[in-house]
Amino acid sequence: MSRSRSHTNSLFHCLSGAYALSSPGAPNRLGDVLHRLMYRVVALGGGRIQARLLRRMFDLHHREPDRWSYETSSYDRERFTAVLRGIGPGPYERVLEVGCSEGVFTRALASDDRVGAVTAADVSLRALETARRRCEGLSNVSFVSGSVVNEAPPGPFDLIICSDMLYYVGGRRAAVARELVKRLAPGGILVLEHVHPESGRLHASFIHSAGLEVLERTVVRHSIRPFEVLALRRPA
Ligand SMILES: C[S@@+](CC[C@H](N)C(=O)[O-])C[C@H]1O[C@@H](n2cnc3c(N)ncnc32)[C@H](O)[C@@H]1O
Repeated sequence: MSRSRSHTNSLFHCLSGAYALSSPGAPNRLGDVLHRLMYRVVALGGGRIQARLLRRMFDLHHREPDRWSYETSSYDRERFTAVLRGIGPGPYERVLEVGCSEGVFTRALASDDRVGAVTAADVSLRALETARRRCEGLSNVSFVSGSVVNEAPPGPFDLIICSDMLYYVGGRRAAVARELVKRLAPGGILVLEHVHPESGRLHASFIHSAGLEVLERTVVRHSIRPFEVLALRRPA
């Protein structure tokens, strides 16, 4: 291994320790601050460098399956149920899930009667490998790799879901908002879900973006960590 590669790996091992301090199941103020700061730094490199760093970091994170315990966590089950409630009546022919991770929510989404073809995107190739296996047998799901900052699938989409993800784009949220809004079909719905009250800051660029209208905003006061589901619509 080259010296620079081994330095990068050591750095990522240190940085990924911030996950231990900050995860939805373990709220911790200092952990949150360090975690968000780390991703602000990663975003300084520009879209392509950011994408490469994020891929390395999340591949490292996903070296063991289900590091976030999505399969077993009742907190995440409630989150996923709230997001599915937040998408409204549909139907949605073309759906994009941004930051699909290992596909636990993707499976539920693609099995929903309101949903047609799902494109599930993630920056981590390892997460996508697991997601593909998890969704085997579902013919309406396809997976794409790339960072939503500069490699989001072209669309248009009738529904876009971005849940528990915006922390990782650092200071590039406004760019992500622009890219996702461009990919929404007229009348399309964008659903965001993040921890509350930080969600106010994370969702602000979307609320003020390109004339999207707020359809519904729900704060779930979960005992582990409150979260907000925000549904926005692009006017037809
Ligand atoms: C905490 S998981 C959230 C998974 C799922 N959306 C949920 O709500 O549980 C965040 C996922 O976002 C992915 N991710 C982080 N930055 C990304 C980016 N810039 N573009 C696409 N995916 C990204 C990570 O690889 C990870 O799998």
